[in-house]
Order: sequence, then structure tokens, then C-alpha cells
Amino acid sequence: MCGIVGYIGYEQAAPFLLSGLERLEYRGYDSAGICLNDGGELVVKKSKGKLVELKALTQNGTNIHGTVGIGHTRWATHGEPSDVNAHPHLSDSCRFAVVHNGIIENYLQLKEYLISKGVKFRSQTDTEVIAQLIEYYYQGDLVDTIIKVLSKLDGSYALGVISKDAPDEIIAVRKESPLIIGLGENENYIASDVPAILSKTRRIYRLQNNEIAILKRDSIKIINTDKEEIAKTVETVEWDLDAAEKGGYEHFMFKEIMEQPKAIRQTVARHIKNGRVVLDEIRLTPEQLKSYNKINILACGSAYHVGVVAKYVFEKTLRIPVEADLASEFRYRDPIVDDKTLTIVISQSGETADTKEAMKEAQRRGSHVIAIVNVVGSAIAEESDDVIYTLAGPEIAVATTKAYSTQLAVIYLMALHFGEMLGTIGKAEYDNYITELEALPDKISQILESEEKIQYLASKLFNSRDVFFIGRNIDYALSLEGSLKLKEISYIHSEAYAAGELKHGTISLIEDGTLVIALATHEALIAKTVSNIEEVRTRGAYVLCLACEDHQEIKNVAQSTIFIPKTCDMMLPSLAVVPLQLFAYYVASLKGCDIDKPRNLAKSVTVE
Ligand code: F6R
Repeated sequence: MCGIVGYIGYEQAAPFLLSGLERLEYRGYDSAGICLNDGGELVVKKSKGKLVELKALTQNGTNIHGTVGIGHTRWATHGEPSDVNAHPHLSDSCRFAVVHNGIIENYLQLKEYLISKGVKFRSQTDTEVIAQLIEYYYQGDLVDTIIKVLSKLDGSYALGVISKDAPDEIIAVRKESPLIIGLGENENYIASDVPAILSKTRRIYRLQNNEIAILKRDSIKIINTDKEEIAKTVETVEWDLDAAEKGGYEHFMFKEIMEQPKAIRQTVARHIKNGRVVLDEIRLTPEQLKSYNKINILACGSAYHVGVVAKYVFEKTLRIPVEADLASEFRYRDPIVDDKTLTIVISQSGETADTKEAMKEAQRRGSHVIAIVNVVGSAIAEESDDVIYTLAGPEIAVATTKAYSTQLAVIYLMALHFGEMLGTIGKAEYDNYITELEALPDKISQILESEEKIQYLASKLFNSRDVFFIGRNIDYALSLEGSLKLKEISYIHSEAYAAGELKHGTISLIEDGTLVIALATHEALIAKTVSNIEEVRTRGAYVLCLACEDHQEIKNVAQSTIFIPKTCDMMLPSLAVVPLQLFAYYVASLKGCDIDKPRNLAKSVTVE
């Protein structure tokens, strides 16, 4: 969602701010702006729409001057996307400028109070309240004022503040929304996410809740709200700039699909030693594990779809009941969760508001939480009881691919780890799973090599109006993800159905030419799925079937087929998802959609 970048140094700030914002575009936004201190005046340029508008307005950053500045990409929450609601926001007399990620929950009360004191507001945003409060309480010391203002705010925030009166300073604050400080030579930076500053530095501090950073050109001081100095450790970011750039590919999504073998290999290799899964991150004893009578999985979107796969995987291998829950539903339904429930939270960004709050709800009820997260140091990673990182690297395209795949890999690792602890997986079976897990990257590479076939199928089918994805068991879990991938980037209406459920209503939607994508990888249920394929074909559907390569007979029942290599049942989604991602990608490309930044979507959903 929103993005923050800031610069203090000796160079002109605007070109860096614009390029930093460009690297945050993937998070999703609808307006952008920058503010620079130009010889004691705060000059703001902001615009509704994409960054090209802001670049045009600033002539690529050449008509706005100053060596200290802040920038922002906004994803509207309070107030429509517009020039005036875009950040940075200035205080009434233009003395202070603020960029903000997060939500100020009590902004209306604060705004009413300030209006009653004669303060004039320009925008409908919650953020402007912060700029106005700073001016209202300012008595000559910016840090003191900001500390006072923080005590008035309810909600979440990452803030960058500059002031006319302190021209050689940026103040940055974090509560709940992520913010990092980049360390340079005679210049320093702030950003909501690493890619924004990777062209300048890999050395960062991650601000924790209620920490305040005071950045000057040659120093950074971090204090708490009692003004006590905090000693922080410099972290070196492992991602390089290439990982956060397209590297010759037309879209991040395609690049990230192609990176899946490497991402899975890294994630798996980190956790297998001498043929055994090692998950030291999980600090549960076998006794604790045995005491659980339920596993509870919480996530949103594609991460939730990983949870649905995990339900099949864990129930089969561990013989424990598993509930996969949408985080946004779990939070509000008085869930039955206690210290006998193990909770697993899945999130690429580690910042998804609903997932984070659902996790806290589970913790409040006494449940131990293991988080599977991609972004190091994110809120969910920090606040869970144990965290396992997926080593997917930065995922920039809004539609997830490699994060989904590495999350699945972690689920298999956990199944093996817990299965061994509980004694529910025999030795031969365990060894076979390890072999299959280590073979996944090569099998995925094999699928990726035949992507022209998928491109061809997409060219035949991209005009479909409605698409139904059907499957049974683990293929049903996969159909949820296949359907979401297609609809979110190509805007084609699609639905995922358990194949056996079709005839209980949905089949009435099938008519001549309706595209049905039938997933029939699960060996034991192939005959059942074939019956469902026949049912829709006789009603006119065009069936594209995805099956394992040893089931060539599927060619006789479907009009088109895609074959994938064989693996053990529980790992089939890792292979089968790849053609579905490629299909969605090519369909969206043929339809001319904005693949990396689909309309209305944001990469990191930090609002409920
Ligand atoms: C879909 C997609 C989303 C995310 C969801 C959760 O392609 O990417 O559905 O999976 O918004 O995000 P994280 O994993 O960051 O919690």
C-alpha cells in the first residue's frame, strides 16, 4: 500500500526520491508527492495518478530543489485519490511537512478539536491531522513536539517529518507500520521498504515500535519516547539490486515465476541437513506438540490458499484436525482456540493487517503462533512466537508466485518435522518425501521450459468470459489459487469449485464454450474428476485438464491438456501451480492488462 522515502545529504534530493518511489510502486498507490526544503521554504509537488504524472510535474525532479526531502505514494483510505489528498501534507502555515503510512483511528476527534481552535484543513486525510498537531503544539523543539503529538495518536503509523525550522533534519517514527533507516556516506535515508534505497545502501536500521530516528547528513540518533538513546545494530540486507529489478524480463511477475526453482531450492536447502529436516526456529518440545488437539492456520488471499493445501497435508501426515481460516473472518467470530491449539500464520509481507490482528487474537487466547513470513523484521515476524522465513527474496509483482511456492515448501518441511516428532511418518515414507522435496526445483524448471505450450493455450482461450477451476482434495486447494491468479491479473471472472460440488448448483452456469480448467493431478481421485469433466463437457464446456504425465489417457476426455511431472501427492500443488500462474500471466498479457500492478490491488494490505 502506501510507500515512504526520504533523503538528507548534499545531492539534490528530488531525483532520488522519485526513483525510490518508483521502486515502491509495486505496493499499489493512486497518487504521489514529494516535499523538499528549498532554502528554508517547504516546497510540495504532488499529483493524483501514477508517478509519470509527478515526474512530468517536476520535470523529472529538476524543477524542485533542496537536499532534504520526503516522498510518498498513497493508496487512498481517508478521502478519495486526488492531488489535495496526496502526501506530503503541510501544516496550516506550511512550517511542517509529513508523510504517513498507516491509519490514525482517532483523527476525526483530533480534527474537530483543531478546527475548534481555528486550524484550517486542506484535505480529507487522517494524515493532515499529524502535520497540524505538530504546528499546534510546536514550541521550538521538533522532537519534543513530535513526542507530544504521538501521545495523542491512536492507530498505526510510519512517519517522515521535515520542518522549515530544522532544515538539516528528518525525523522518522514507527508504530505498527514498517520503516527503515538507510545509512550512507554523508547522506542518510528513510523508507518503508528496502527496495526504495537499495540503489544507495544495503546498511539499514529497522525501527521498532515507538522508536524515533533523528537523521542528519552525517549522523543518525535513535531514541524512545522518553528521549533515551537506543543502540541499534546495523543490518546488512542480503537482497541485491538485481533481485529488486526486472533484469530484462518484461514483468516482475514473469521474472518471479521463473525464480521459483531457485527460491524453493534455497528455502529447502536451508532446512535439510544430512537427509533430515532441521527447523530450529520452532521451539516446541515433542511433549508440547503432542498436547495440541488442533492446528489453526490464519492467512489472507493466496497465503490462505497455502493454508488450505496445508490442511490436506497436515491432516494426512500428522492425523491432527486442521482448520484453515481467513484471517478477516477468524478475528470476529469468537473462535475456539486455546493453549491446546497450535496456530500457524502465513504472510509474504508480514504486514497484512487482518493476519496480524488474527495472530494477536490467537495469542490472546493462549495459542502458540508459528509464522511463515518472507519479509525479515516485519511485524508478524517480530510478534509471532516462532518465525520461519521463506527465502523467496523480494516479491514485487502484486500477484504472488514465488512467495506462494516457498510457503508451500515450508509447509512440507513442517509436516516432515512434526511427523517425525509425533511418529506419524514412517522412515521409508520420510526418506521418499525428502527426495521428492529436493527434486521439486528441477521438476519446476522442466515445466518452465515448456512454457510456449501454455502461451499457445492462453492465445486460444484468452477471450473467455467466465472460467471455472475444478478439482478434488489437494487439487481443490490448488484450484482456489489458479482461479485467484487468473481473475486478479486478467480481470476474467473465474470461480474455484470442489469438483464434486458442481452438480449442487454451479453446473447450471455451464453453457456452450464455458472454459473449465480441471485439475486432476491427485491419482486416487482421477476417475472421479474424469466423471465431473464428462458432466461439464456434455453441457458444452471447453475443458482444459491438468494432470500428471503418466495419465496420457486424459487426452481422450478433455479438449486440451497440460501434463506435469509426477511427485508425491502432497507436493503436487507445487508443480501444478506453475502452469496455472503462466496461464494467468499470458492471458493477462494478451488482454493488455497491467500485470504487475492490477487495478485496485495493493501488494501489502495494511488496512482491515
Ligand atoms: C494474491 C496475493 C494476495 C496475498 C494476500 C496476503 O496474488 O498476493 O492474495 O496473498 O494479500 O498477503 P500477505 O501474504 O503479504 O499476507
